[in-house]
Amino acid sequence: MLQFLLFSKDFRVYGERFYAEGKTQWITIIFEKADGTQFKRKAKVGGTLQEIIGQNNPEFPGYGACDGTVSCSTCHLILPEDIFDKVELITDEEQDVLDYAPERAPTSRLGCAVSILPEMDGMIVKLPAVIKDIRES
Ligand code: FES
Repeated sequence: MLQFLLFSKDFRVYGERFYAEGKTQWITIIFEKADGTQFKRKAKVGGTLQEIIGQNNPEFPGYGACDGTVSCSTCHLILPEDIFDKVELITDEEQDVLDYAPERAPTSRLGCAVSILPEMDGMIVKLPAVIKDIRES
């Protein structure tokens, strides 16, 4: 699939999807830790999943350590299969980092590499039990 990112005065284009600038769309995403604890968060369509939790969040220790630069794997998330099929393809850079992420699953992605889509409203995304910063290996 051809991936591209274009900016114009009125629209951002992510692949085949169009989001009107200035018309922020908010959805709800549920993060589920390995122990079953769930955290419901508002999310802005067009942002990334990592931005929702951020960096140095006490509820998610260690998450987002590289602050979205696709180099640590601490934002490893496991997406529902139907959503995994809709998000942008994994780049070689993301693949290299995911290869070292603990508990890798078939629908694993890095939160900093996945754009938030309207179809994610109500999605339950799982966090692995082990969060590892691969830069410390
Ligand atoms: S925040 Fe480090 S890889 Fe995503």
